[in-house]
Amino acid sequence: MRACAAARRPSSTFRCFIPASVFTAYCLLPAAYFFLDGLRSQSALDPAGPQAGRIISLWWLMFYVTGAVFLVVMAFLVGALVRSRRPHRGEAADAPDVKPEPARERRMSHVVLTGVGLTVVILFVFLVHSFLTGRALDSVSAKDHLTVKVTGHQWWWEVQYENSTAAYVVTTANEIHVPTGQPVLFHLTSTDVIHSFWVPNLHGKTDLIPGHETVTWIRADQDGVYRGQCAEFCGHQHAHMAFTVVAEPPEKFKAWYDSQLAPAAEPSTQSQAQGRHVFLSSPCVMCHTVRGTDAGSRVGPDLTHVASRGTLAAGTLENTRGHLAGWVVDSQKIKPGNRMPPNNLEPSDLQALLDYLQSLK
Ligand code: CUA
Repeated sequence: MRACAAARRPSSTFRCFIPASVFTAYCLLPAAYFFLDGLRSQSALDPAGPQAGRIISLWWLMFYVTGAVFLVVMAFLVGALVRSRRPHRGEAADAPDVKPEPARERRMSHVVLTGVGLTVVILFVFLVHSFLTGRALDSVSAKDHLTVKVTGHQWWWEVQYENSTAAYVVTTANEIHVPTGQPVLFHLTSTDVIHSFWVPNLHGKTDLIPGHETVTWIRADQDGVYRGQCAEFCGHQHAHMAFTVVAEPPEKFKAWYDSQLAPAAEPSTQSQAQGRHVFLSSPCVMCHTVRGTDAGSRVGPDLTHVASRGTLAAGTLENTRGHLAGWVVDSQKIKPGNRMPPNNLEPSDLQALLDYLQSLK
């Protein structure tokens, strides 16, 4: 009978195995993260601006302190498991539960009181550090800033560089260029549901709320392409609502800005001219703007310089001819639920349309 009960009871090696595996996973996951270099273009652990730098210092403090607490708790747990296998002095191995001795009880109370005291101190340190981080994020000055209005749509980002002169306003989508080292103030709003603007390498999250404007600002101190992601569940394609922030030297940014100010390129081939005709005579014109043509709707992204952008469909696809063709013909297969209807075009019309769209640099 006893042999049977012992066989059913998990061995202490097995009981130690579970906390040991949790502990190993806890230690290895962050380490593995640093080796997955691709993820670093969207990583709060790799700050490229002052706000992300503040946030990461709070994060590391919490990581090390809670990591140490975790190790201590695991050590106590393993100790308790090992001791529970050992019979108390002077007792038979299978004797029923015994009352703790007064000295042992006193020792346990001390341990519990120390634990409670440490918890209060740790939480207080977190509270103060978190408060100071919040204050620092709000108080940094955004002098000589650029102002960009970002409007969230299900499921893409409308981007407009504000300027007191209408002719200098640039409108684009899903790709935000910024000059390195210069603060950029964002005015955020939404046309439908709540979205959240998040570029982990540069700052924390800020919600985009319908009928209300929120404000945040970033400053990229290192050139690079940083991936941003909607961080508030906003419907079916929430996961496919990404964007990129391209931080580049001021002169390169100015060249980009000037190129975006220009109206759409005129067709330079017969096929591109046919493509423009297809564009203007198909449902495309009902939703998109191509400045310099009659297409002026703002339901979908502005396509005046669509070929200059790195991705299609808010970071869903790389901007290649094949992806563009698939998207134009049946975007519902790629991103079900988006607002764009399928387009049943003749093959020659499709190729001409692709030629035209790819000329819009
Ligand atoms: Cu937009 Cu989630």
